[in-house]
Amino acid sequence: MTTVAERRGLLAVSRYNLFGVRAEDVIIDLLTDSGTGAMSAEQWAAMMRGDESYAGAKSYYRFAEAVNDLTGIPHVFPTHQGRAAERILCAVVPLEGKVVLSNGLFDTTRANIEAAGARGVDLPHEDALRAHAPFGGDMDLDAFDRAFRASRHETAFVVMTVTNNTVGGQAVSLSNLRAVSERCRSAKVPLVLDACRFAENAYRIHRDEPTERHRALVAIAREQFELCDIFTMSAKKDAIVNMGGILGVRDSALAERIRVEEIRTEGFVTYGGLAGRDLEAIAQGLREVLDESYLEYRSAAAAYLARALAGAGWPVIEPAAAHAVYLDAGEALPHIPADSFPGHSLACAFYLLGGIRTCEIGNLMFGPGKRRQLVRFALPRRVYTQSHVDYVGAIGAELAPVRSRLPSMRITEEAPSLRHFSAALVPERAFPDF
Ligand code: F0G
Repeated sequence: MTTVAERRGLLAVSRYNLFGVRAEDVIIDLLTDSGTGAMSAEQWAAMMRGDESYAGAKSYYRFAEAVNDLTGIPHVFPTHQGRAAERILCAVVPLEGKVVLSNGLFDTTRANIEAAGARGVDLPHEDALRAHAPFGGDMDLDAFDRAFRASRHETAFVVMTVTNNTVGGQAVSLSNLRAVSERCRSAKVPLVLDACRFAENAYRIHRDEPTERHRALVAIAREQFELCDIFTMSAKKDAIVNMGGILGVRDSALAERIRVEEIRTEGFVTYGGLAGRDLEAIAQGLREVLDESYLEYRSAAAAYLARALAGAGWPVIEPAAAHAVYLDAGEALPHIPADSFPGHSLACAFYLLGGIRTCEIGNLMFGPGKRRQLVRFALPRRVYTQSHVDYVGAIGAELAPVRSRLPSMRITEEAPSLRHFSAALVPERAFPDF
């Protein structure tokens, strides 16, 4: 436990960047749900069976079987995390001068696409977070049709991110995925599923899409993959492991190119930057994650936190995503302009007052632009209890009355890309005395 006075010093030392704060100086860590989950007893048991043979380990075959069972996709490659799968894909598909259309590219996906010389275009519904519940993560099909018509020959591939992390973590409906898939197949343009939260998305489809309610979660999860030609996945989310990723493709010629690139940069194709024991944990995690009671509990926990923050008067994106609660800091702190980072000011305030670490998803993360200024409270899987969540709600209630006194923030140093990880900032005036 740290005190407010200690955290004031710690924040200054980390140059007002929460990525620079030591984890031991954080009380409740809601920075991300990525790799921060608790593995189950069965996963730890599976790790004991890890076969660390360089080539053709038993652990690889158990991993490949679990991924094939889930996805039906024949060629699967382990990678050290999701962005490695993205990087390999972007190295084997010609991208120079091309376009990639998406319902919402995650920042590493966009960075990999752009580093390979293509342009990433996000086409979510306008004001998706207000008007398109419960499937605010959908692609805007009218906008997609227009963009696809205009750039059909330049479109290298289309990416559907489930759930849509950059659009408030909102779910994507199966009907939307089917519609995009149909268009891609008739134009012979590959559809890539960014599948890291496939189970949470499948649960939302099962719960909220009227035509899908009778279907088993595993069947819905499977169809999401069947609609695609390629998938990239960070196993650090819905495979509930601390490290790992997967790249899967149907096309044998593409798989051949991936093999060469994987061996050059990640490792031999049957381990891809992971230990055999990691492959075992992924195989087990992929089976556990589709347990309906687990997904219902996880979704309810996020909704519970959203209610606590909304009850304290904070504008919260509804419905809450399964993996996180997103708070609209632009609306909550109208005295701070977007380019003075209201989301980051609020994230710093939650840390100062309560030792709670969250993440700005707004202009600090993406650069100048017109978008919502959000703060994400991401929930690690199987880690925090209700009393921890109650503590976050209580800090939210304590912070709400002083929010008009939170300061604008200014960047003093930044990297040319992915700046929010390392930028140095200062508040324009001191944070209030809590
Ligand atoms: N795609 C999505 C939708 C993601 O949310 C992430 C990671 C990745 C790809 C990249 O995966 O981290 O294993 O390389 N998201 C984390 C987050 C970092 O906090 O949302 P990775």
